[in-house]
Amino acid sequence: MTDSPLQFELHTTDGRARRGKVTVPHGSFNTPAFMPVGTRATVKGLMPRDLRETGSEICLSNTYHLNISPGPKIVKKMGGLHHFMGWDAPILTDSGGYQVFSLPKAKLDEEGVTFKFEQKGGKKITLTPEKSMQIQEDLGADIIMAFDVCVPHPCEYQDAREAVYRTIRWLERCKEAHSRKDQALFGIIQGSTYADLRALSTQLTREIDLPGYAIGGLSVGEGHELMMSSIDQTEPGMIKEKPRYLMGVGYPEDIVEAVARGIDMFDCVIPSRYARSGVAFTRRGRFRVTNARYRSDKFPLDTNCNCYCCRNFSRAYLNHLINTNEILGSALMTLHNVTFYQDMMRAIRMAIEEGSFEKFRQAFLDEYLSDDK
Ligand code: GUN
Ligand code: ZN
Repeated sequence: MTDSPLQFELHTTDGRARRGKVTVPHGSFNTPAFMPVGTRATVKGLMPRDLRETGSEICLSNTYHLNISPGPKIVKKMGGLHHFMGWDAPILTDSGGYQVFSLPKAKLDEEGVTFKFEQKGGKKITLTPEKSMQIQEDLGADIIMAFDVCVPHPCEYQDAREAVYRTIRWLERCKEAHSRKDQALFGIIQGSTYADLRALSTQLTREIDLPGYAIGGLSVGEGHELMMSSIDQTEPGMIKEKPRYLMGVGYPEDIVEAVARGIDMFDCVIPSRYARSGVAFTRRGRFRVTNARYRSDKFPLDTNCNCYCCRNFSRAYLNHLINTNEILGSALMTLHNVTFYQDMMRAIRMAIEEGSFEKFRQAFLDEYLSDDK
């Protein structure tokens, strides 16, 4: 045993793709890993036992939202986030950095970000690196994220450069403030879509010794090609022996292509958010089950899927449930979409193990992006 809160074993590589395992205090997860998003300590529509059944080994929650409700002190008093939400496996919390920047009235200075709470009577709150660390320590996730500056896209060069340096100064403050030895703090690389800023941010971030590193500032509307070139400008400078996490990504094609570029961890609201509006993901792409053409379709969402939804219910039933706003519709669609993502991650991991990832990548994308659904 070591006293590090995180162990990373890199089992095999296939080209730049990596197959590994991360171990944290609440257990292990296989990489490449997809983390479903449980913003308010719940993946909307799924009980933790359902979430487990999808093949999820780790989930994500948000500092920003949990700070508003129920508040970190209540979560701490209830025994921490794992106990509170009934999820005994690994959890990662994001720092709030990303959420506050999407607020229209957030004010940013060297100290932190000040904004008005949506609730709590419009009370002003400042989130700083130190506050984010305190909140995340109270929540008690296994992996916590640095409080960073995520700029929008597109972004002027000077603004992106300032954000890189401020994110580094804030990372130093985060590391200094973080005291729980049973939590792993990840640093976040920024730099917008500028090649030299990505390289600079990667270099400055890796100089701060941490158990893992993330690529931030992507999936902000730059599109697939710029996302991939930004990863290409970042990943080669990252430490080989530590996990790499691409934040907020993404569509299945983004994930497959990012795995091909050496990424180990992902999170995204897409499978769960799309599910609630009636969009199903399948090997042959995604489709809208609310479309009239599925009104009397007796097939499951995906004939290749073995989830509880696909084993038991027709597209016709889901068409009816979603069109009439029945909560079971959201729950079943979410179960299926998250299962689809986790089946994809399992197939990715197997392909890397077998040394056939390149073949998998082409076959998967051919089928997924083909027009004949
Ligand atoms: N989620 C998606 N992108 C980001 C980012 O750049 N920073 C943080 N903290 N979270 C994210
Ligand atoms: Zn299914």
